[in-house]
Amino acid sequence: MPERRVTDEIQQRAARLREQIEHHNYRYYVLDDPEVSDAAFDKLFRELQALEEQHPGLITPDSPTQRIGAGPAAGFEPVAHTVPMLSLDNAFADDEVIAFEKRIRDRLDLAGDISFVAEPKLDGLAVTLIYENGRFTRGATRGDGLTGENITANLRTLRSVPLKLRGTGWPQTLEVRGEVFMPRRGFEQLNARQQEAGEKLFANPRNAAAGALRQLDPSITATRSLELFCYGWGEVADELPWKLQSEALACFREWGLRVCPESAVVANVDGLVDYYDGIGRRRGDLAYEIDGVVYKVDRVDLQRELGFVARAPRWAIAHKFPAEEAVTRVRAVDFTVGRTGAVTPLARLEPVAVGGVTVSNATLHNIDEVHRKDVRAGDAVVVRRAGDVIPEVVRVLLEERPKGTRIVQLPKQCPVCGSDVVRAEGESVARCSGGLGCAAQRVGSLLHFAQRRALDIEGLGDKLVEQLVANALVHDPADLFGLSVETLAGLERMGEKSAQNLRARFDAVRAKPVDLGRLLYALGIPQVGEATAQSLARRFGSLGAVRDAGLDALMAVPDVGPVVAEQVKAFFEQPENLKVLDKLSQVGLRATEAAPQAGDDADGPLAGKVFVLTGTLSGITRDQAKDALTALGASVTGSVSKKTDFVVVGADAGSKKDKAETLGIPMLDEAGLERMLADARKGRL
Ligand code: IVH
Repeated sequence: MPERRVTDEIQQRAARLREQIEHHNYRYYVLDDPEVSDAAFDKLFRELQALEEQHPGLITPDSPTQRIGAGPAAGFEPVAHTVPMLSLDNAFADDEVIAFEKRIRDRLDLAGDISFVAEPKLDGLAVTLIYENGRFTRGATRGDGLTGENITANLRTLRSVPLKLRGTGWPQTLEVRGEVFMPRRGFEQLNARQQEAGEKLFANPRNAAAGALRQLDPSITATRSLELFCYGWGEVADELPWKLQSEALACFREWGLRVCPESAVVANVDGLVDYYDGIGRRRGDLAYEIDGVVYKVDRVDLQRELGFVARAPRWAIAHKFPAEEAVTRVRAVDFTVGRTGAVTPLARLEPVAVGGVTVSNATLHNIDEVHRKDVRAGDAVVVRRAGDVIPEVVRVLLEERPKGTRIVQLPKQCPVCGSDVVRAEGESVARCSGGLGCAAQRVGSLLHFAQRRALDIEGLGDKLVEQLVANALVHDPADLFGLSVETLAGLERMGEKSAQNLRARFDAVRAKPVDLGRLLYALGIPQVGEATAQSLARRFGSLGAVRDAGLDALMAVPDVGPVVAEQVKAFFEQPENLKVLDKLSQVGLRATEAAPQAGDDADGPLAGKVFVLTGTLSGITRDQAKDALTALGASVTGSVSKKTDFVVVGADAGSKKDKAETLGIPMLDEAGLERMLADARKGRL
């Protein structure tokens, strides 16, 4: 097809689009502060792509559409580093940091404050990028520090690598150095894709990043979410435009090169250690993995004066975190039973120190996970404990598997009460069907029954419930109402007065009918949260009607699908549960009764509307938002589906937001929610 004539207008449009795309890339990748939605960005990008497709003459090598330019390479060419790429000495304990600072003071004969740049030590790969006259011309790996590999084509596919520097004032030749890494989220998504395709899983984000960067085909690199933080420089001609390490970072940022937002300037050894502790506490919340922090003397003249020993500078050091992973052996795989009856596999381990504590159990989440990782009793495994996170088994070292191990099977009967273990279709969680009759579920369900949003029995805390169950004083919620003041007062940490108060509270609860929705929620039926319990109550009007409802009738309730309907039916078919309901009525507990409501119209201006809340709201709590919505007749459910009308998106929203986007469900931010609530209250909807 002959190329269409390129008018001035088209040329200007392409230039304007490039400018806008670069601007938004900068806002997104460097400033972490996007101005437009991903969709709006994609629209600009596609418009430029379409223009360039129609008029190939318009294409420039640094156009944002040209990131994947070269085809697969046969191998990587060696690149000699004019300024060697050094490594860092490590410190593990605070006194090694104290010694580092003292060495610097002694060498420089300095008594006053010394400023350092402190920043995370990223767990990725060091790279170097050369900009000639502001254009990205070559990028290489560190290699052995003297010679690396030319990975220009791959680096071009990273959106945080500007093809052209922004602004002015950059040196004619600028070699920037930094770390390429894969954020946790991208790593998880990549491994999920690998698994689906039956490909091998990457052990950690670092290996995944290394694999992606060393792809001979840049179009593969482009599909891996790699990012770059710049933290240093190599060759700079003619003159260094900065006198401080921190100034260099500020320049990089201005020129469109991404720097780690956690970098800070701190003074003296106290500043260093405070920084280390602070980042250590937040380590698990960062979007990427780090293995320590790095301290660098801020003044470049002092860096020069200090110089190097062997392959590491005297002016910088890496202060490492304790390893979060360790290798140990699985003694057994047990199954534990939680409040909702979830039967969860648990690896019993040879005790091992990891992340600063001794770990002897690690969760395996669910049986699919056990099979996916193929964890067996006797296996050597890598365990991981990050921050306060529950330790988990990362992977099995298959090469160390002893002979005669057996695949773990989900038990058919609950290990605690012997009831059937059931697993609803499409669900990863298996549950004990023993309901309120299962001893392991008793403590949890009693606490759930008593919680504020259920029957609101103030003063019934976990220590107390544990004692009641352990001493066989209470088997089910009905037994609570038979406890005497003497029995209660005889328990540890219970005075006569608190015993009387608690007894009075039990009496108050059964003095008048309990809201049916609350009672249904209190029963702890799997998958039935507050909103569903309220919907069931509205639709059926009485406990008896819910109990006798068939699957079709249940599924006609707004937020009840086949899975929930099945759970409700199974709950009311369990003889143990029916016995408890009977006992509750014998002790005088009554639920409110109302006429069943046909259709899904609750009262209120938002009747029939289904909301999902996700992420953190700042002005109100989620519970408050939920209350406000339900008070206006809306229902609030836990997962996004085609039945959802609105998704309220707070900060750090994750997969629910993604799902809403995919399904095209309207989203509200906090301000939008408040407007909607206000309008609904004023009857404007
Ligand atoms: S500075 C002369 N800063 O750690 C200074 N390195 O152990 C050389 N690394 O090869 C490096 N985060 O891959 C520096 N903020 C950071 C870093 C960092 C990670 C890596 C880098 C380097 C290795 C040295």
